Amino acid sequence: MNYSNILVTKLKMAPEATENGYAIIQLNRPEVMNAINIALMKELVEALDEMEKENDIRCVILTGSEKAFAAGADIKEMADASTVEMLQRDMFSRWDRIRKFKKPIIAAVGGYALGGGCELALTCDIIIASESAKFGQPEISIGVIPGAGGTQRLTRAVGKYKAMEMVLTGTMITAEEAKQWGLVVKVVPNEILLEEAKNLAKTIASKPSVAVQLGKEAILKAFDTTIESGLEFERKNFYMLFSTEDQKEGMRAFVEKRKPKWKGK
Ligand code: HXC
Repeated sequence: MNYSNILVTKLKMAPEATENGYAIIQLNRPEVMNAINIALMKELVEALDEMEKENDIRCVILTGSEKAFAAGADIKEMADASTVEMLQRDMFSRWDRIRKFKKPIIAAVGGYALGGGCELALTCDIIIASESAKFGQPEISIGVIPGAGGTQRLTRAVGKYKAMEMVLTGTMITAEEAKQWGLVVKVVPNEILLEEAKNLAKTIASKPSVAVQLGKEAILKAFDTTIESGLEFERKNFYMLFSTEDQKEGMRAFVEKRKPKWKGK
């Protein structure tokens, strides 16, 4: 597939290999700080659609450049749109598709992650950042509010009061603050951001893939359910894993004091 707004690298898992098994998607509109336009979102969704079907891709890294992960939705593309035009564009169905991607996505954030860029990172499953990263929801300063989950995911991640401050003032936070607030799991120098993301991706890719998928699904369930039904959901996924060959292999390998060999089924 030829893309013009993203760069895709696939490091597929060779048979018997324990490394690789992940893909990197780099947002690639450097002239506009990786502003997210419709064309970029279409390509992102197409790439993920493909990766979801590829068994030897177990995890995806989403990244940008040193200057910007993404500076938000493309303001020039939205500036003159009416409500009806925005509705007809139905841009959020693509965001919903990303949200429903079954494999883990790691956001490796360097530079600005603003507005839709911050929301894109929040849609991912784990965020790591370089020291230069800045997160913010500056929509208020251009007359709107976040539209791709900022008021919901950010609030669940950092709590009401910090979310209020960020969304109502547009103030950016540093990578270190984002880490203290629990948004980011690790802050590293820019030169090793991708290396760190790759190590994380390799680790996830080396785990039994059905358990990884059901684990992600169960964690996401926590965001839209009560604790009671969340626990039930988790339990069903837990039981379900007892019908996989990898559960038998994993537990037998532990008992026999050897390394497990995963089949991904
Ligand atoms: C379109 C953008 C852009 C954006 C930057 N550019 N962000 N174009 N949409 N979101 C373009 C600039 O117009 C400029 O193009 C070039 O990128 C470089 O940006 P500068 O502003 O010159 O760089 P700098 O001074 O370093 O400032 C960087 C910045 C600033 C702090 C990131 O660009 C900025 O504040 N950007 C907007 C951030 C924002 O408000 N995001 C929220 C968007 S709304 P030219 O042609 O002039 O060189 C949103 C809603 C999401 O995300 C809703 C759901 C999808």
